[in-house]
Amino acid sequence: MWRIFCAFVFISISGINAAEDVGIELPHVEFKPVRELSNDIPTCREGDLNINECIKQGLQQITPRMKYGISELNIPPLDPFEMGKSSYNYNAGVLQGRISMKKVVVRGLSDGIVDKVDFRLKNRRVRMEILSHVPQILVEGFYKADIKLNDLKLNPKGAFNITMTNVAMRARPMGELFDRDGHTYLRLTKLETEPKVEDLHFYANGLVPDPALNDVILDFINQYWRQLYQAMLPETLATWQPLILKSTNDFFDALPFDMLVTKN
Ligand SMILES: *[C@@H]1O[C@H](CO)[C@@H](O)[C@H](O)[C@H]1NC(C)=O
Repeated sequence: MWRIFCAFVFISISGINAAEDVGIELPHVEFKPVRELSNDIPTCREGDLNINECIKQGLQQITPRMKYGISELNIPPLDPFEMGKSSYNYNAGVLQGRISMKKVVVRGLSDGIVDKVDFRLKNRRVRMEILSHVPQILVEGFYKADIKLNDLKLNPKGAFNITMTNVAMRARPMGELFDRDGHTYLRLTKLETEPKVEDLHFYANGLVPDPALNDVILDFINQYWRQLYQAMLPETLATWQPLILKSTNDFFDALPFDMLVTKN
């Protein structure tokens, strides 16, 4: 019997992959135009031969400060990062349903380590590659699902948490510089991100009413997390990347790029 349940959980989680429409509510941030920077905000020089090292150290200096946010840069407190509600509709063959999450909190981002930066600026086009990793990320929150499996209707709900160890991120922002009101600004056209997780542990209650069966399902999920992660990743990235791109562009629309990377 539990095999059927495991198969069901497997299908339902892979089903997110087939999401039709997804809603994510991010905390509202007001981006106020930045007029000048205080001395403790790291900057780099465009002609610096070691600009990659300079940007790497600058990002590394900023990262722990994300815990409390940096209001002069319009950066809100990001650790813990509190997400509003998010929901995924999915329709995978015999399985139809929706998973909603709320009160989701992500911890650990401010412990991020910047491993490598490659910055290129040519003909007002910017291409960057940033390699970084976070030793541990903890995600916790509440979930609710409405699932229809053939004629069977299920409404699991409860609390969940996910511990991820050594999350490596390769980000490739691409954009162009433009002038406005005597300053140079950056507008990103593309932002590719590729997260890799070394290890992951998932916990949830309420998957099924019976706690013993719940544990069996958890064991199954934790054994096959790599497959589930691979199945979910493309859709998750497709959902998140436009949001991250928009937030990043709102950030750079308020902060002239020539204040961060000064002209020679
Ligand atoms: C996840 O939640 C369970 C149940 O509340 C708890 O026992 C466990 O410690 C939590 N895991 C983490 C990493 O917080």
